[in-house]
Amino acid sequence: MTLLAVVGAGSMGAQIAQQAALHGIHVRLQDVSGDQLERGLASNRALLQRRVDRGRLSADAMEAALAHVRPTTDLADAAADADVVIEAIVEQLEVKREVFAELGRLAPSGAVIASNSSTMGISKLADATARPDRCCNMHFFYPPLVMELVEVVRGPQTSEGTVERAQALAREMGRTPVLLRKEIDAFIVNRILHMASQEAYRLLDAGVASFEDIDTAVEKGLNWPLGPFRLGDLSGLDVTYNARLHMYRTTGDERYRPSPQLEAKVRAGQLGRKTGRGWYVYDKEG
Ligand SMILES: NC(=O)c1ccc[n+]([C@@H]2O[C@H](COP(=O)([O-])OP(=O)(O)OC[C@H]3O[C@@H](n4cnc5c(N)ncnc54)[C@H](O)[C@@H]3O)[C@@H](O)[C@H]2O)c1
Repeated sequence: MTLLAVVGAGSMGAQIAQQAALHGIHVRLQDVSGDQLERGLASNRALLQRRVDRGRLSADAMEAALAHVRPTTDLADAAADADVVIEAIVEQLEVKREVFAELGRLAPSGAVIASNSSTMGISKLADATARPDRCCNMHFFYPPLVMELVEVVRGPQTSEGTVERAQALAREMGRTPVLLRKEIDAFIVNRILHMASQEAYRLLDAGVASFEDIDTAVEKGLNWPLGPFRLGDLSGLDVTYNARLHMYRTTGDERYRPSPQLEAKVRAGQLGRKTGRGWYVYDKEG
């Protein structure tokens, strides 16, 4: 039976742990913050309770899945005996490298160490350990209890066995893996999403249509659940802007240059749902 360690119990880590536990995997969930661990577990309980209330999960299965996630603030405790470790901590290179170095010492020598980072290819982290061949990216999508895809990314030093192990784990936890054979900025989904949303901004900047009509066109014509502007408001326009800026600076590709209208929104502090106003205006009910 797989023993999984998840490091970081924030928006992603807590749900990644719970998704694995729903499939009978024993998980140790570690965070430096005991409060964050408690919040993550409470949020998982509430999410699973909704499934029980809707008749989609039995109360017994919920309790079993919750019991399969053991919280700890001790990284050594979490990593000991793990077959796979998934790192899902803050998106800061130096902090991640420190955690990778520690995991390299603490996890069993055969264990795979994966990062859930959205922007850091594993080559930026793997050499902090003495087992770069056993490291890869496993990129889950928010919210991990709902979103089925996992992008498994092979770095220049990652072994075939490592990506096979990561893909097998994704399947074992009820997720669909895709394999990127080469490390590339933003992976597959975010690259395609960036380009589609950049085109939407170009149409807006050129005065071709209103943002509402562009959203309607994409929602009704492409069957996307949310158009690019509604989605931007949900993710945070600062997040969208910074992602564009990062891609523009790293590739120098004009196609990634952030829209002036997006930049103006960010400068005005209109960041989307979290500030009550972005492209749309939100009340308490959203
Ligand atoms: N939020 C998303 O939509 C999303 C989607 C895919 C991937 N990701 C990636 O997942 C990772 C986590 O993102 P998030 O949104 O869950 O962040 P978050 O801020 O919600 O959670 C990060 C957690 O890491 C903990 N932490 C910080 N330093 C730590 C350390 N040294 N050891 C253990 N825990 C530590 C924090 O206490 C916090 O609970 C990032 O790499 C991000 O790029 C995020």
